[in-house]
Amino acid sequence: MGALVVVGTQWGDEGKGKIVDLLAQDAHMVVRYQGGSNAGHTVVKGGQKYVFKLIPSGVLHRGTVCVIGNGVVVDPADLIAEMDELKAKGVRAEKNLFISQAAQVIMPYHKAIEKASETQKGGRRIGTTGRGIGPAYVDKMARIGIRMGTLLDPPYFRQQLEDNVAETNALLETLYKAPGFEAEKIFQEYLRYAERLQEMIVDSGRLVQTAISKGKKVLLEGAQGTHLDVDHGTYPYVTSSSATAGGACTGTGVGPTAIDAVFGIAKAYTTRVGSGPFPTELTDEVGALLQRCGNEFGAVTGRERRCGWYDAMLIRYAVRVNGLTSLGITKLDVLDALDEIRLCTGYKFKGRKLADMPQEVAMLGACEPVYESWPGWGKSTIGVRAYRDLPREARRYLGRLEELAECPIDIVSTGARREETIVLRNPLLRAKRKR
Ligand code: IMP
Repeated sequence: MGALVVVGTQWGDEGKGKIVDLLAQDAHMVVRYQGGSNAGHTVVKGGQKYVFKLIPSGVLHRGTVCVIGNGVVVDPADLIAEMDELKAKGVRAEKNLFISQAAQVIMPYHKAIEKASETQKGGRRIGTTGRGIGPAYVDKMARIGIRMGTLLDPPYFRQQLEDNVAETNALLETLYKAPGFEAEKIFQEYLRYAERLQEMIVDSGRLVQTAISKGKKVLLEGAQGTHLDVDHGTYPYVTSSSATAGGACTGTGVGPTAIDAVFGIAKAYTTRVGSGPFPTELTDEVGALLQRCGNEFGAVTGRERRCGWYDAMLIRYAVRVNGLTSLGITKLDVLDALDEIRLCTGYKFKGRKLADMPQEVAMLGACEPVYESWPGWGKSTIGVRAYRDLPREARRYLGRLEELAECPIDIVSTGARREETIVLRNPLLRAKRKR
């Protein structure tokens, strides 16, 4: 088979890290295709917790090749820190890790611009993670970005950097009244990073395509989620990359015909970090319970995640824009404590029922969710590994999610550990089929 894309169907934090780690045991290669260290993919193995920001979530499997694709924006300091942290836990990431020479580099001034811009926006801020992601993608599109491969060519790197710093300083000092940067200092710092990473910087598109051509199983790992996608998400309250399945092609350098299946991950309820509309958000004690039981705090920033009911409108949209072939439902066990579970099946806008998600945030923010009520199951589902062992009410809830999404469920996650999972069917083995 070719590649399987794993994508978030909500606003990120769906538990993609755990699922990618699980699927990676049968994969030859895992490739990250967008985002940067704004991501925090959590994997729990042998009682040890790992949070991956840039390194693909397959790294814990010995022999799995991990690739940071060209669509990613790399903060080399973060990457090296992540490699060192893994080393301290006994994992030698660099042995099997490759970085695209075309991946963009995050510079200190990207973070400074982001901070200044968010501060200036005040109440209209996006609520970014502060990792310099947006400004780095701006430079990429403006064709002034510095790529990982550029770091290996010091004279060219120095010239690019000097030009960029001159422009950035004018912006920071004049518009934002913030201090500027010294190009030479950054140059020396980044040369040290390049020295450490140089062996890993390659033509990754070729590497990925070769693996696919040889019939190897390749996972393309998305970060964030469908509704944070810069084109298809709740713009402008989105991240600056293509988090949907389309980004897997541009962000790795393989064509759409190389992709056999697209696996969407959805939490059994909904969360969101940062600003932006969230129709099923709960600001009451049920929201607080979901936050507590689900440990809903950002893996990277520690920020509280906003919590709400599962929203089938979000998922139906994700099925459409990603061409999902199947779904994975995570954190089912977090709903164990609830007597009643609500499920949003549609929206009403000014009293009128909508057939699809509105594209404008103002309209989405004014939508009223239409709910169905389902009975809770009153039992623990933590660690359940067989579908038949789930309480009847939980199976009925999952059946309803599948029906509303018009997409089959392949995996249900019932805890943070790898083995706390029900695998109905391995999405890696799902053959290409017409939808
Ligand atoms: P940025 O990606 O840091 O520019 O942030 C833009 C928006 O995306 C903010 O609302 C962030 O909270 C959100 N965001 C970015 N990365 C993640 C993630 O990995 N999980 C959840 N939300 C994210």
